[in-house]
Amino acid sequence: MSSPLLAEATRIAREFDYPAAQVQRGVAEYIRQSNEGLAQENTTLSQIPTFVTAVPNGTEKGLYLAVDLGGTNFRVCSVQLHGDTTFSLTQSKIMIPRELMASGTSKDLFTFLARQIEAFLRIHHNEHFEAHKRRRREGKGEEELFDLGFTFSFPVRQNGINSGTLIRWTKGFNIPDAVGHDVCALLQSAIDDLDLPVRVAALVNDTVGTLMARSYTSPGETGTLLGAIFGTGTNGAYVEKIENISKLQHMKDAHFDTTTGEMIINAEWGSFDNQLSVLPNTVYDRDLDADSNNPGIQMFEKRVSGMFLGEILRRTLLALHKNPDVGIFKSASKASLSSDALLYRQWGLDTSLLSAVEADKSPDMIDIKTALKDHLNIENASNEDCEAVKILTHAIGKRAARLSAVAIAAVLIHTGKLQTDDIVDVGVDGSVVEFYPNFEDHLRTALREITEVGLAGEKKVRIGISKDGSGVGAALIALVASKDQTLRNPRE
Ligand code: BGC
Repeated sequence: MSSPLLAEATRIAREFDYPAAQVQRGVAEYIRQSNEGLAQENTTLSQIPTFVTAVPNGTEKGLYLAVDLGGTNFRVCSVQLHGDTTFSLTQSKIMIPRELMASGTSKDLFTFLARQIEAFLRIHHNEHFEAHKRRRREGKGEEELFDLGFTFSFPVRQNGINSGTLIRWTKGFNIPDAVGHDVCALLQSAIDDLDLPVRVAALVNDTVGTLMARSYTSPGETGTLLGAIFGTGTNGAYVEKIENISKLQHMKDAHFDTTTGEMIINAEWGSFDNQLSVLPNTVYDRDLDADSNNPGIQMFEKRVSGMFLGEILRRTLLALHKNPDVGIFKSASKASLSSDALLYRQWGLDTSLLSAVEADKSPDMIDIKTALKDHLNIENASNEDCEAVKILTHAIGKRAARLSAVAIAAVLIHTGKLQTDDIVDVGVDGSVVEFYPNFEDHLRTALREITEVGLAGEKKVRIGISKDGSGVGAALIALVASKDQTLRNPRE
């Protein structure tokens, strides 16, 4: 007989079931919303044209700079592409101060970023940096600039390969004065204020970078179809036929190369189905959204990505804790569960706890107990408490993986690639897909359940981690952009 605690945990866990029929409905609706996004502006699935019209083949060469803003860290790197599918990467990572993410001005943020670029150049490319300073002082000839790819992982309406206006912030960032502004221009002006030898050559979403990097490094001739991130946020970018992107006809100013007949689309699938016509919606999802800084937006992301899974779990545990007939963590000390305890705090629970719980195979669930102590400061959790945490974690993680399958399957079906190709390559990156145990297994099970994919289709899907994809990908796009003068100033 299961205890009241486990019975209640199981009941809540069932609310996170996402059965095959719902997956199938999700796919059909995703395809509908994606077609709508290709035809019109201001749709829930943005389907943003990126003006990147070719994927690399591994022979590209050169030294490029790349920076990456999109999660808790800001990364600066230089990438040497060797031209034989390999590259070397030097990078530094800096945590972004919380006040710059959410309360400062865009000037504060971009000045901070430019300062990090300066520090990186001084450490890793000082010779070049000093030579540039000297040439400037002496007023001598053409300067040599580093071309920089700017990975900016938020929804941006691109006007060309190196310009784009911010549509909205996501993932806890909130700097209102940047919305509607060209983020490349903001970065360039902060760089110029510090007199750095750097030109912002390309604006890149992390998913596009992942797609490019995977295409550069992936084995064999197969070009990559889709780059997807399952990390702090989630999103995908895929190769679309230009003739299908009918809204391009209204973008009169846009200049791009049409020779490949293809363009990468940044789907911004974090905002798939904001209207909740098919997404599952438990009371925990509803409350999380209502208390977030962007209610009604990024509804798919709020059920799938790392920033939110910990918070969903926290809310379910709190429900168990507050239920007098059940109770959880009864043996924990009063101090660890006082009213300002982490369990009561919004965002108090990091998603890495879920990974640790899923991975547990220890006797007496000792690893879960340690994780609860480390993450929530809860000591003396009982075996039954741990069992309840496990049941809920599993349900929340599994739903996230099955939802992820919806977006991936929809792209596979919409592009018709399963019909024409023997292997369909997908590059992925992000903490959830990399570290969450069994994420890919659950995702693949759901893919097989979708009629148009099935067992045969799922077997064709090759999923590979594209580590550091956003850095290398940004370098590759900076390379393409720096070679094409017309792209530098799209309106010239
Ligand atoms: C952003 C996307 C980004 C994704 C993954 C989302 O919140 O809107 O632009 O690609 O996170 O980082």
